[in-house]
Amino acid sequence: MQSTAPPKTYRVKSFGCQMNVYDGERMAELLAGEGITPAPEGQQADLVVLNTCHIREKAAEKVYSDIGRIVKDWDRADGSSPLIAVAGCVAQAEGEEIMARAPAVKMVVGPQAYHRLPQMIRDASAGRRVTDTDMPAIPKFDALPARRKVGPTAFLTVQEGCDKFCTYCVVPYTRGAEVSRPHAALIDEAKKLVDAGAREITLLGQNVNAWTGDNAAGRKIGLDGLIRELAEIPDLARIRYTTSHPNDMTDGLIAAHGDVEKLMPFLHLPVQAGNDRVLRAMNRSHSVDSYLAILDKVRAVRPDIALSGDFIVGFPGETDTEFEDTLRLVDRVGYAQCFSFKYSPRPGTPAADMPGQIAPEVMDERLQRLQAALNRHQMAFNEASVGRACSVLVERKGKHEGQWLGKSPWLQSVHFTADVAVGDLVPVTLDAAGPNSISASVRSGT
Ligand code: 5AD
Ligand code: SF4
Repeated sequence: MQSTAPPKTYRVKSFGCQMNVYDGERMAELLAGEGITPAPEGQQADLVVLNTCHIREKAAEKVYSDIGRIVKDWDRADGSSPLIAVAGCVAQAEGEEIMARAPAVKMVVGPQAYHRLPQMIRDASAGRRVTDTDMPAIPKFDALPARRKVGPTAFLTVQEGCDKFCTYCVVPYTRGAEVSRPHAALIDEAKKLVDAGAREITLLGQNVNAWTGDNAAGRKIGLDGLIRELAEIPDLARIRYTTSHPNDMTDGLIAAHGDVEKLMPFLHLPVQAGNDRVLRAMNRSHSVDSYLAILDKVRAVRPDIALSGDFIVGFPGETDTEFEDTLRLVDRVGYAQCFSFKYSPRPGTPAADMPGQIAPEVMDERLQRLQAALNRHQMAFNEASVGRACSVLVERKGKHEGQWLGKSPWLQSVHFTADVAVGDLVPVTLDAAGPNSISASVRSGT
């Protein structure tokens, strides 16, 4: 057992979803609370946290090659070694293997246990290798420090885990059962985020619209109730939420899209496939028609809503005609933007053992066709927004002198030139559309 000096600098590297980005920020805050500072750009950190994603591809292999690179690049002449922690969903799913295969890893910490990192670091510095993949009953959120200064857009995890058990997905195993954070803690964290500079909050959850809680009066409310309360925070200008499941898309939440002005006209509602047999095999528990009916209801209250989704091509047994149903669905919906993936067998999930696994070249071809259709719709959506007046929340400077970047209400990237600052909500007119961004001019006199 070799002990090392306690780390002075850290680097957190997050992969995958927005929840991991949020977790990465919270881990950074936790480390800052221990007096450990971010390693300057280009310099080695004493402590590296790899906050991993397990949802697709050979994620674990990527982790091993990252570990190898950190060890190889370690050039300190003092005989020390880097402190490496593997966090996130690969840690949860493959913690033991990581410890066995990668001696350089000193800590393995699952997504529900990272509030214990400070103690783990002390143990690891003393030469002990530690694994914590518990899913403790006392939630980690209670043990995390208060939010620090944040940018104009912030994430707020309101719900974690998933009980849906789609047959292709590891999330129910790595993130555990659906748990909603208590209402009071969320209102408190949201207010702190706003005090720390956030003007837009994106509520996060693997099934964010399954969130429920008791409000201050003890009444059970859903995500729509939470959104309505957050909308009362004066300096909070915008609210978003992601990711939703069609089955938890309540009438109340749909109604909120019609009458809560701060709730942005954007809905990420994954469908995964456009064929009912495939949806059943995926255990999605919604049909193409029930999905479309939800979108109709949302459009009835918010006609300009920008729709987004996730798709998987090449699910086991998917035929050419079933895949073409997906293309038909895409054309019917006219999405503003989407994520699309090749099916990736995840060990331990039912679909990994299903017959009819699809050949890689078939998946490649389907993904290309799907992405071509999605790109066409994205471009059409952007073109249709030319001429619209809207606000842009300024997030950062652009590449050119005087240029600024931000998001439209429909989550499009918008750039324009003006004398503004990060965090400003700027009234603009959208002028010219590209596939991935829109140029705008500032409206004066408003
Ligand atoms: N293979 C491919 N894509 C997947 N997703 C989840 N699991 C898999 C898998 N095994 C996709 C789904 C989900 C998104 C977050 O990742 O589309 O909505
Ligand atoms: Fe995975 Fe399905 Fe749960 Fe989404 S709803 S996290 S795809 S199991």
